[in-house]
Amino acid sequence: MTEMLLEIRDLCKHYPLGGPGLLRRRAVPVVRAVDRVSFDIAEGETLSLVGESGCGKTTLGKTIMRAHPATSGEMRYRRADGSIVDLGRLDGAALKAAHREIRMIFQDPNGSLNPRLSVRDIVGEPLRVRRIAQGAALEKRVAELLEKVGLRPEYLHRYPHAFSGGERQRIGIARALALDPRLVVADEAVSALDVSIQAQTLNLLSDLKSEFGLTFLFIAHDLSVVRHISDRVAVMYVGRMVELAKTEALFTRPRHPYTEALMSSVPIPDPRLRRARKRIRLAGEVASPINSPSGCAFHPRCPYATEICVRDVPQLRPTGGGLAACHHAETLELAGVSHIAEGAE
Ligand SMILES: Nc1ncnc2c1ncn2[C@@H]1O[C@H](COP(=O)(O)OP(=O)(O)O)[C@@H](O)[C@H]1O
Ligand code: SF4
Ligand SMILES: [Mg+2]
Repeated sequence: MTEMLLEIRDLCKHYPLGGPGLLRRRAVPVVRAVDRVSFDIAEGETLSLVGESGCGKTTLGKTIMRAHPATSGEMRYRRADGSIVDLGRLDGAALKAAHREIRMIFQDPNGSLNPRLSVRDIVGEPLRVRRIAQGAALEKRVAELLEKVGLRPEYLHRYPHAFSGGERQRIGIARALALDPRLVVADEAVSALDVSIQAQTLNLLSDLKSEFGLTFLFIAHDLSVVRHISDRVAVMYVGRMVELAKTEALFTRPRHPYTEALMSSVPIPDPRLRRARKRIRLAGEVASPINSPSGCAFHPRCPYATEICVRDVPQLRPTGGGLAACHHAETLELAGVSHIAEGAE
């Protein structure tokens, strides 16, 4: 049986607005960037998290990484020795040990690689900081990591500006692998790359996943990117999870209208097949996480909204083998792209 690696329960990250200097006579407005999110990731699984910009994906990733404290909720993580820890409550040596197992790959390889450091120093930094290797041993390990990500080991002494965008992302991946992680949180790891380089990088990530037995939380704003690498997909809208399902089930028949709308913008290469699909234009703006609409936050943009949607918040519940937070999830016949895209590939 596959074991759970990470169990997120009712996780909230709210950013107070206005800063600490204000007199707090009234309730301070907050940005509900992540709001009562729950999900599990099984060992060896790739779970993707998708949704438009601003829906809370990065905040969720950073909360898991403890870049900032959670407002509330639990993040139970099963360590390599089998013990279960709550990532939110760890500190000192225990936090450091957990962070050796959980690493993050960032969106912008230009911004996240220090231009003044050589590849040796960038990739070797986690090894040096933790006193795992130095000198010739560190160089050997960095050269090995470069080979693993498809870069020549002699690139060790070059600086980030000497590399293309795709190569820089590989350097970021090599750095994430330096400590032999178990869970990798990849935040928009391919979003800034050209489509052909995206495909190569996704292939590299799947190869590395098999070779090192990794588990991935793969964050992207674009559903088409996650299709071929995910076991399951979670869709977020304004800080909340609105759907979670196995990848093929989600692409065949989404259960949440927001997923259907996101899917209708997945590119289809063949123009004939493209014409055959249902297009849904997402009307209006993404709702604000500060003052989100009553009831279902998606109701102002949803073509299927009824009275209950304006009034009651839909809870995430089992629907069609997955989970969906929509009052009408069982009755709506939403359109996927599976049948269309299969013919197009
Ligand atoms: N440090 C912060 N302070 C206040 N609001 C923030 C902060 N970081 C992010 N936000 C807000 O939280 C929401 C979620 O942002 P983010 O997690 O970056 O979304 P995504 O990664 O899905 O684009 C957005 O409304 C964003 O403006
Ligand atoms: S609950 Fe209503 S408004 Fe929300 S997604 Fe479902 S049908 Fe649309
Ligand atoms: Mg983001």
